[in-house]
Amino acid sequence: MKRCIQLGRMGFPAASPNPAVGCIIECDGQVIGEGYTQAFGGPHAEVMALSSVKNQDVLSKATIYVSLEPCSHYGKTPPCVNRILESGIPRVVVGILDPNPQVAGQGIHRLLEAGRQVHVGVLEEEIRSELRFFLTAQEQKRPYTVLKWAQSADGFIAPLASTRTEKTPVWLTNRAARQRVHQYRTEIQSILIGWKTAEEDQAQLTARDWAGPSPRRILIDPQGKTSPHSPIFDQSAPTTLFVNQGMTYAALAPIEVEQIRGSVNELPKQVAGYLHRKQCNSLLVEGGAFTLSTYLHSGQWDEIRLFRSPVELGDGVAAPQFKADFIRQEAIGNNQLEFYKNTQNSFLI
Ligand SMILES: NC(=O)c1ccc[n+]([C@@H]2O[C@H](COP(=O)([O-])OP(=O)(O)OC[C@H]3O[C@@H](n4cnc5c(N)ncnc54)[C@H](OP(=O)(O)O)[C@@H]3O)[C@@H](O)[C@H]2O)c1
Repeated sequence: MKRCIQLGRMGFPAASPNPAVGCIIECDGQVIGEGYTQAFGGPHAEVMALSSVKNQDVLSKATIYVSLEPCSHYGKTPPCVNRILESGIPRVVVGILDPNPQVAGQGIHRLLEAGRQVHVGVLEEEIRSELRFFLTAQEQKRPYTVLKWAQSADGFIAPLASTRTEKTPVWLTNRAARQRVHQYRTEIQSILIGWKTAEEDQAQLTARDWAGPSPRRILIDPQGKTSPHSPIFDQSAPTTLFVNQGMTYAALAPIEVEQIRGSVNELPKQVAGYLHRKQCNSLLVEGGAFTLSTYLHSGQWDEIRLFRSPVELGDGVAAPQFKADFIRQEAIGNNQLEFYKNTQNSFLI
């Protein structure tokens, strides 16, 4: 199953919003086939692994291991359960059940009904952590939400606006750390900032420094203060603007405009519902301090990725305060990247 987890990673993030599942076929103690879920809409891991077996005759005495329950419904591809049954493979080992209501135990049921030997529940914690974007979307009907910021050694995320002479980002992190952020942007399906960050940093929010698609950009600008010429409206990635009711933005087409319905603290939930309807299973909140704090207060977040820099600013916009469970840390040159999880959302290990 560890190998299934490794294989699944090879399909991430291309498989999104499908789960990046891995699969192996074993016979007489030897791995005879491997596969992982292909880019969204492509074949699933089980089909890839079964097709990779050179001598199909030995499948009648083989075992298939797969990190997620095989699907039993027609989606973009036919049900994997059908392919497993056709192969004649007698034993199936499954990491975790698929909470998707179209599967939810029915894949296992069909295998058992057909007389296959099935074992469910191997490395469950590890797999739930790996598939946390997909599982959050399925179980909680909202995107898995990562809060990310960089802070100076003395606890600021930026100089005070009044002391800034140019509208350009003030970098606290090193080049490799900034590249890591661009990698995250290709892995997470949407990215969100408040209008002050859009204006002061002239933020573009695209993945320019890493190969892969840019996420959908979400801009929170209740009173429409962002210039229409801001890079965030440059049409290089799908973009949605959240504004107060009654404001119109015909000039910004094809930017999508959503009307804010509730209070500041209710907005994270509204954004989550909007993204869920768009099948976005993950959201990266990149700031600034006010926006991050509203997410922290709302409880509508899962993970924090905090870059600590050795730079001192002396004064500035204070970094958000938070309580969370520390998971791990990693050095990126002279920067420190720390991972935390929300105690209420226990996917990450
Ligand atoms: N170091 C880092 O990682 C990092 C990352 C990003 C930004 N920054 C820095 O952060 C600074 C900006 O931070 P900031 O805290 O001043 O501003 P911000 O969070 O970028 O934007 C705040 C504004 O966005 C709107 N907003 C955000 N969330 C909202 C919600 N839930 N409901 C309603 N409105 C909401 C409000 O607009 P209204 O006031 O119009 O209602 C609010 O005043 C910049 O200097 C930028 O350089 C640093």
